[in-house]
Amino acid sequence: MARELTQIELLRELETVAEDNVNRHLKTARDWNPHDYVPWDDGQNFAALGGVDYDPEQSKLDEVAKAAMITNLLTEDNLPSYHRVIADNFSMDSAWGHWVGRWTAEENRHGIAMRDYLVVTRGVDPNALEEARMIHMTNGYDPILAAADRADEMLANGEEIGLLHSVAYVTFQELATRVSHRNTGKACNDPIADRMLQRIAADENLHMIFYRNICGAGMDISPDQTLRAVTDIVTNFQMPGAGMPNFRRHGVLMAKHGIYDLRQHLEEVIQPVLRKWNVFERNDFSPAGEKTREELATFLDQLDKDATRFEEMRDRALAREAAKREKKAS
Ligand SMILES: [Fe+2]
Ligand SMILES: [Fe+2]
Repeated sequence: MARELTQIELLRELETVAEDNVNRHLKTARDWNPHDYVPWDDGQNFAALGGVDYDPEQSKLDEVAKAAMITNLLTEDNLPSYHRVIADNFSMDSAWGHWVGRWTAEENRHGIAMRDYLVVTRGVDPNALEEARMIHMTNGYDPILAAADRADEMLANGEEIGLLHSVAYVTFQELATRVSHRNTGKACNDPIADRMLQRIAADENLHMIFYRNICGAGMDISPDQTLRAVTDIVTNFQMPGAGMPNFRRHGVLMAKHGIYDLRQHLEEVIQPVLRKWNVFERNDFSPAGEKTREELATFLDQLDKDATRFEEMRDRALAREAAKREKKAS
């Protein structure tokens, strides 16, 4: 097995790739203003300023759209946690540091737009939203600990949890949020929300491409090591919402109604990225790398089976609910 590159060697080896990709990103990214996506005319003061406080009747969002909006916004709110992981692993120097700053500023825009929209339209309870934000941000979130399943083994092997795990995680996570934002936009049943979330989803896609290119270059210069990191992340992947209040209930609602489910996770997030990296076609892995690839393939087979089982269960549940509704109506 080829020698593993250290964190510093990786940063150095990948620096020109980072530089090229920062430049590519700056050329492709479109500037936009969060205030252009918020229907300010719909707003009114809350009681503290002589108006009326939130009443659930005021919301035009159904339960699914509410759950998805809250989950996606809290995820965006937790940006300091993500910034920490990226800044720690990328360093704040050179193209790496420039990307950390630029990416953080772009991500912040997402939370601003969504919060303004929800508060102005009274889409969700602003008190509950603030309470959840406080809890979620206070807890913080370390996505890389998601790979901690192997932490002991890694320590024993002298492997590092660092740059490669971070870029692998954010590649999948950016694509996951893209899918989730886009489908949430549709679920809101409001052309303004849909446009805003499409705009945000387009940003997430550009972010994903940046990280995917870095991780892809990592795969080329140190194939076994990068595939190990990718496999750690894929087999332990947790959505960034894990740990936020009501995450399970909201996650189930979102999966049940096609905002983000296992099939989408497998076919719209994991597989397209692995295809881009030619994971299953390349021949530059050592026997150890081949073994990792088998582990990944076995995991994906199981994920496919789990997705099918979930879909069957969901179909049955939705059919039962529809029948119940019909019975009530007749
Ligand atoms: Fe975002
Ligand atoms: Fe993003």
